[in-house]
Amino acid sequence: MSNSLFRTKKIGAILSDAGDEGHSSGLKRVLTVKDLTFFGIAAIIGAGSFSSLGSAVFSAGPGVVILFIITGIACAFTALCYSEFASRIPVAGSAYTYAYASFGELFAWIIGWALIMEYSIGNIYVAFSWSDYFTSFMDKLGDIMHLNLHVPDYFSNSYAEVKHALDAGTQDPKILYAWNHAPVIGGLRIIFDIPAIVINMLITWLVFRGIKESRNFSNVMVILKLAVIIIVILVGGSLIFTGGLTHNWTPVNDEGVRSFMPNGFGGVMAAVSGVFFAYIGFDAVSVLAEESKNPQRDLPRGMLLSLVICTIVYILLSLVLAGAVNYRNFSGVGDPLAFIFEKQNLNVGWMQFLVSISAVIAMTSVLLVFQMGQPRIWMSMSRDGLLPPMFQKIHSKFKTPSFATIVTGLVVGVPILFTDKTFVLDFTSIATLFAFVLVCGGILLLPRKEKIAGKFNLPYVNGKFLYPLIIAVSFILFNVTIRNYIPDMLSFNFSADPDYISGKTSFMELATPKISLIIFWIICIVLVITSFLKNLSLIPLMGLTTCLYLLTGMTKSNWAWFLSWLLIGLIIYFLYGFKKSKLATETK
Ligand code: ALA
Repeated sequence: MSNSLFRTKKIGAILSDAGDEGHSSGLKRVLTVKDLTFFGIAAIIGAGSFSSLGSAVFSAGPGVVILFIITGIACAFTALCYSEFASRIPVAGSAYTYAYASFGELFAWIIGWALIMEYSIGNIYVAFSWSDYFTSFMDKLGDIMHLNLHVPDYFSNSYAEVKHALDAGTQDPKILYAWNHAPVIGGLRIIFDIPAIVINMLITWLVFRGIKESRNFSNVMVILKLAVIIIVILVGGSLIFTGGLTHNWTPVNDEGVRSFMPNGFGGVMAAVSGVFFAYIGFDAVSVLAEESKNPQRDLPRGMLLSLVICTIVYILLSLVLAGAVNYRNFSGVGDPLAFIFEKQNLNVGWMQFLVSISAVIAMTSVLLVFQMGQPRIWMSMSRDGLLPPMFQKIHSKFKTPSFATIVTGLVVGVPILFTDKTFVLDFTSIATLFAFVLVCGGILLLPRKEKIAGKFNLPYVNGKFLYPLIIAVSFILFNVTIRNYIPDMLSFNFSADPDYISGKTSFMELATPKISLIIFWIICIVLVITSFLKNLSLIPLMGLTTCLYLLTGMTKSNWAWFLSWLLIGLIIYFLYGFKKSKLATETK
């Protein structure tokens, strides 16, 4: 062992630490491929499809379907890489553990740190969305039962959200009511999201209680939400055809031309972050390795099956949405699935009610899966000495990582008091993409293994010629799609930009997305040369490339926050993990 930042952990050591070779890790092995697939779906279908799909349709029009296919393909490449890792290293810890075996300790820590954003910070967003749907469900229920079940607006919004909306000059009556009627203590307005806090406490308790109980609960929720989504697709789909609404699939754009992509491919790509968020979650399956009966066979199957099912669901759902209502009407719509059944649209009252219930259910299952994932990653980090030993403590009765579960509850719960939705959504997406990039890259670093019957084997396709070809074709297509953009990008000629001249937009603001694209193409060229020289495997190469491309869509402030977060992580690593790491102490 060494004192290097890049000391790697041998796969054999990872397996024996986790108790895979005859020892018991303390977790119960109860999950089958069906359970894992259900967990995948439970994690994937949630706030992304029920909330952010509306703005995605508004930006992309019916062409959002194309983006779902592209993002689905990108996620499938990544899922294949996760599967390969999961079959080699079937222990909890997901991308963190995989990075430890391939890139070494420093990167493993960085990944573990970034995954906090995917799992815990992502759950803050879902908890906020859950609260939105829950409160509107209570309102509808109250209408039916002639009761006042309304949660006051100052107790169903976060302080930060209300304050930001007010600063931006909102006229939303709910926000104004929350601000003007909130109780005041010591001059401070008491505004916080009670339903979001309560659901987080309930989920933490459920996860603390144990995997079997959580699994049963999760399976029921997945069946329910899939059933409701199928009803939405069937009812909405049939009304599109009987109501003669199919013309909405080729709406008239601003230039008066009918098009499947009314805002062009640029409009489609502008919806990337919302669509990507809808897919996050399939990777959470990999943290359940130590609770699976046959992880090497079942984890890959569970991950890929859930991804395929969700891609089909998303394609059908977006077609129904874009067919039921003209894409322009989705501006600012946060509950698109209920919206299409409103009076002025398809006008089916009972469907609005059904959708609200299923949205609450869908989000609950996302919360559950992510809240289970986080403690298991921390447990792995603690085993390696990078976090204090308390994080690997398994509850004697419930057999769950009890301390880590409670800390997760706090990490999700406390920021609910201080943050808002948009902020946490951006954080989650950038960190998850970052983790995906390292997982795909990690596969390229591992030596090829012999095929083993009964285990998942990542198909090897030689990227020597195919990868350069794909990159060349993509570059040409990219040029054609945004041909007006590229020349500017390469010459940094912003002098013609009116916003730049007037000082409204700074040089950096204009340059940042373009710089990220230039960096992207430079990395592609490096990968082309390396794949040509080293016959790299095409699947991880494609996973790496597609995720890197999605990263170019992140804004400058996303990067600034993300890098600050990484910096804090690095400081903690050097103060604690670097010295306490098992790999470091073993050398002494
Ligand atoms: N994909 C998950 C959701 O949409 C994170 O809620």
